[in-house]
Amino acid sequence: ALGRYLVTGGAGYVGSHTVLALRDRGDEVVVLDDMSKGHHAAIPAGVRLVEGRCEDRQALARAFAGGRFDAVLHFAALSLVGDSMRDPLRYMAENLGTLAAVADAAVKHGCLRLVMSSTAALFGFPERIPIDEQQRLGPVSPYGESKLMCERALDWAEKIHGLRFASLRYFNAAGADPEGRAGEDHEPETHLLPLAIDAALGKRPPLMVFGTDYPTPDGTGVRDYVHVTDLADAHLRVLPLLEERSVRYNLGNGTGYSVREVIDMVQKVGGRPVPHTLGPRREGDPAVLVASSARLRQDTGWSPRFPDLESIVRTAWDWRVAHPEGYGDRRAAA
Ligand code: UFG
Repeated sequence: ALGRYLVTGGAGYVGSHTVLALRDRGDEVVVLDDMSKGHHAAIPAGVRLVEGRCEDRQALARAFAGGRFDAVLHFAALSLVGDSMRDPLRYMAENLGTLAAVADAAVKHGCLRLVMSSTAALFGFPERIPIDEQQRLGPVSPYGESKLMCERALDWAEKIHGLRFASLRYFNAAGADPEGRAGEDHEPETHLLPLAIDAALGKRPPLMVFGTDYPTPDGTGVRDYVHVTDLADAHLRVLPLLEERSVRYNLGNGTGYSVREVIDMVQKVGGRPVPHTLGPRREGDPAVLVASSARLRQDTGWSPRFPDLESIVRTAWDWRVAHPEGYGDRRAAA
């Protein structure tokens, strides 16, 4: 194997696609996941799963027991903006607590490299589009705030312990492994693309479009959808940089698509209509979020393999059609 990595949240959506990317290049991977949201079937053969919470010292000890890791990739987190508005202290405590516990264990075990999932939500309502790394940080949700606290905690861990970190601020992760080995399966599902696909397949009620009066060309919200396999690739590409310095990158395609355009693309790819209704804005949703990933491209050579909405929607559609119940484990557990 080329390297040895600990992936927290490796049974989740972005984590599992990153585990696949590491395994595809021959790395050894240990996953630490409490399986509250993750899926056993999302973990490929040959990957060891340590089932437990990131704050659980014994689970961490088991994960770190098998030898030195080259880096920790930390995906485990709560990630629903709406939930965080109802339960702010839980989001702050849990997201900062898990990051701190994992980073602390890494330092104690002599692993001074960490990659963390961050978010466009750091920027709240942005001042300019596209959003580059110079732009003012100003979260407008406890979720965004929790990730900003995590980045700041890592700054101190770097100063004091020499821990080098990469913070990747994802825009809208979407799509599925092009080989069909993993896909998106959240419960509850709140994301636009899987809801639109399921509405088209008749598996969920009609999609509600959140807001039609935004200052955008068609009045619906505009987002930067980035393929989950391209997100995974970015994690691999930042690892060598950590030998030199810590980094923060905004991570998206640099192109925005409206809710209306996503619906139209699902109709085109799937060949059936997406039943939908028009509703009011969802509180806290900015009109437009589009990333500038120029810095990441320049520093790492990252270039998305699936930059177009059609291939993002097609991989998501194909996975859902092949897995009409998703991974099928949530229902069995309920
Ligand atoms: N939308 C709908 N109807 C739905 C769901 C979403 O119209 O049922 C719209 C939203 O208003 C938005 C777009 O579709 O314009 C995308 O919404 P998602 O919920 O899929 O994603 P968000 O852009 O709200 O959230 C993403 C990440 C968060 C991150 C946030 C930053 O999922 O983790 O971007 O603002 F915090």
